[in-house]
Amino acid sequence: MTGGSNFLSNEEINQIRSSVDIVDVISGYIPLTPRGKNYFGVCPFHDDHSPSMSVSRDKQIFTCWSCGATGNVFKFIMDYENISFIDAVKVIADRAGIAISVKNFASSTKQEKYQDIYDIYALSQKFYQNNINTSLGIKAKDYLKERDIDSDVIKEFGIGLSLKEKESLTNFLIKKKYPIQTILKTGLVNQNSQGYYDMYYNRIMFPLCNLNGQVVAFSGRVYDTKDSSKYINSRESDIFKKGELLYNYHRAKDIARQDGKIIVMEGFMDVIRAYTVGIKNVVATMGTAVTKEQATLIKRMAKEVILVFDGDAAGAKATMSCSAELEKIGVTPKVVRLEKDMDPDEYIRAYGKEQFVQKIENPINIMDFKLSYLKDKKDLKNEAEYSTYIHQVLEELSKLEDTILVELTLSKLSEDSKIDIEILRDQLYALQQSQQPPSLVPAPKKQGKRITKYEIAQRNLLYYMVNSTEVIKIYNRRAIYLPTEKYRRLARKISDFYKRNHLIDVADLFTEVSHDATILQTLEEIVSLHLKENYLIEEIQDYIDTIYEYNVKFESEKLQEQIKKEVDSTHKAALAQRMIELRLLKEKEMER
Ligand code: CTP
Ligand code: MN
Repeated sequence: MTGGSNFLSNEEINQIRSSVDIVDVISGYIPLTPRGKNYFGVCPFHDDHSPSMSVSRDKQIFTCWSCGATGNVFKFIMDYENISFIDAVKVIADRAGIAISVKNFASSTKQEKYQDIYDIYALSQKFYQNNINTSLGIKAKDYLKERDIDSDVIKEFGIGLSLKEKESLTNFLIKKKYPIQTILKTGLVNQNSQGYYDMYYNRIMFPLCNLNGQVVAFSGRVYDTKDSSKYINSRESDIFKKGELLYNYHRAKDIARQDGKIIVMEGFMDVIRAYTVGIKNVVATMGTAVTKEQATLIKRMAKEVILVFDGDAAGAKATMSCSAELEKIGVTPKVVRLEKDMDPDEYIRAYGKEQFVQKIENPINIMDFKLSYLKDKKDLKNEAEYSTYIHQVLEELSKLEDTILVELTLSKLSEDSKIDIEILRDQLYALQQSQQPPSLVPAPKKQGKRITKYEIAQRNLLYYMVNSTEVIKIYNRRAIYLPTEKYRRLARKISDFYKRNHLIDVADLFTEVSHDATILQTLEEIVSLHLKENYLIEEIQDYIDTIYEYNVKFESEKLQEQIKKEVDSTHKAALAQRMIELRLLKEKEMER
């Protein structure tokens, strides 16, 4: 996340934030119903079935009781729209009718920096689309009609046609008075000794959009000539990185979030087909290996991920590698395989929407797919090959987070192979151990370590500092030293905020810490504690006593140990200084 301070002052950002009501903004995205002091809605950031997200008008923040998502209105917009902090500020400013000088943004947003290139792409898309609707586009339209792609679809997906000579894009853009250097930068026009020429001609043009739906590239398909490359994609540019986008993302993301399900295909033709028969929660990876960025985009859209790649061997291989990328970020996808080497486009055209929907609704689990994939072309009667197979399956299991699926597969494998399940389990465990990076051995427990009463005291104290100036004043007066570094840093930040503003405003505090990942995370942790609203001063006193007890008991022991071991005299002096501070604290405490 980018901090605010480098393009607008914190005051300006806070002013923009407080010019809208978070309840109004969020209810424009998800339905909210009032309950008590707060508003509730279904959380869009996890697979939520009941309204777990609360939105507070008082505090101007949202918090999800279930997944812990929290923040101010900017954070909501950022995560919902997948945009940067700066762009989220802009969205809110627009909404509030606050003009932000474009100059402020120019250096910090990609949008303004490459505005010409975006403009040229938008214009080129219109130009190509216009071509297909002229008499020169009849053959291309016939080709598309043959493929059941009618005018509505052409319009929806902005499909067009590139032509030559008089009708070239080069001519068109030069006439529009764009500087040739800018035109060349787009990659749509090239230069040789003869002059300038179009990158594409006589191809059906499919626009590729970025996450916001702006055209940033094209894929051009041959249709009436023999050409060795079926598709030619725009080369990567300042605004186009193929591995960072998914075809149809901007149309699919909201529908996928509502459905809790996203369907992933290989080709954009497959997506166009599915979309036009009404299956809209669908995106395409566009051929090449799925990148980490694409996997992350998929994960953001929905919890249930269904891979429907081409039915051929290449599609099976791509299913394996895509699922590997997803598993790395904790997603366990499901799989649909299509018969007779068909791709989704062919399948839907051959068997119709209903049968395809049937398939989508009955996907196989990823391990069943992998079992058959790994079995394929192996002679399992051959002991060596069988053993390879078992090892490969265990290897795949070691990557899975879904423990139920691991257990299910282990018992299947044991039944199949007649190998005792405990032996398989031991093997799997050994494999998992060997995959841990050395510093993590022994493997940390999944549940995470138990939180101590000292940590609880610090967290609770922080929770009430975030919500009450009275508690901040107590913190300041008593000069409490929080032993856990991240909590200490947050406490100092809150105290500092209070000193500057003479109040505490958690929504603005979120903005202020947005550029510091550790503090931000800690603030999120604290805000999502959901403690009771009102505190007793005695409770605050208890937290402080507990923290104090820790400092005296453990800190001084630890310090003494360290002083003993320390050889460097400056370090020793620093430690001794801390020891003195602790003693002073203790004395101060006694006087109270
Ligand atoms: N692709 C590409 N370049 C190629 C071939 C394919 O970029 N030379 C990408 C395209 O994005 C395409 C995807 O890989 O959508 C899947 O390729 P393929 O299965 O060959 O395309 P189809 O969707 O079957 O296209 P068509 O039906 O038009 O043949
Ligand atoms: Mn196809």
